[in-house]
Amino acid sequence: MDDMRNEVKEGYEQGDYEGEYRQDRELRDEEKQLLDKLFSELDPGAEILDLGCGTGLPFDRYLAEKGYNVTGVDIAENHVEAARQNVPDAEFLQGDFFEQEFGENSFDAVVSFYAIFHIPRDEHRELYERINYWLKDAGYMLATVAGGEMEEYRDEDFVGSEMVWSSHSQEKNRELIEDSGFSITETYEEKDDEHHLWILAENTA
Ligand SMILES: C[S@@+](CC[C@H](N)C(=O)[O-])C[C@H]1O[C@@H](n2cnc3c(N)ncnc32)[C@H](O)[C@@H]1O
Repeated sequence: MDDMRNEVKEGYEQGDYEGEYRQDRELRDEEKQLLDKLFSELDPGAEILDLGCGTGLPFDRYLAEKGYNVTGVDIAENHVEAARQNVPDAEFLQGDFFEQEFGENSFDAVVSFYAIFHIPRDEHRELYERINYWLKDAGYMLATVAGGEMEEYRDEDFVGSEMVWSSHSQEKNRELIEDSGFSITETYEEKDDEHHLWILAENTA
């Protein structure tokens, strides 16, 4: 495992993300609106993959309660254990995004909330391409990416531990997503305490 992945894994395993960020976290109106747009494209019981699922709260619980078949992947062992407790109806796998061997056309939707910026930005294009490969025809991706460019940004005390982020600019992210076989149908720029870009995109490859 490379240094950045180790730092992220250890950071989440030693820190308290659940306590500081996901305890009693409600979905925001804008998030619900984007998820509703996604749901309007999905059949009941659709297969949804969540990359960087964290503790399963609040997103995977919401997806499972809507009746979708949710598979979550996360590198942090404590997050996967918490997710299994929090969302017993979903399936959770521990490991890196790039270790997963899902087949072509496996999912109706792939979602990823606040996670893609924890892998080196040079790998973002390959991840979007993999997501596209895992998606069925006319499947959807909903992803939260960083609001701005960061080569390797470190914080020594994020939820009580060291953490690192890496991202291209918003424009470059859009370009990479479109070049990976997607058409972007909706975006939402989150500018509250933190700055993120939400992207809903359809597989057109
Ligand atoms: C900021 S948290 C967000 C968690 C969840 N999506 C949420 O919104 O609560 C980022 C998550 O991505 C996971 N993660 C980061 N890099 C990963 C990788 N390379 N493979 C799998 N999971 C990863 C972390 O362990 C962490 O749980």
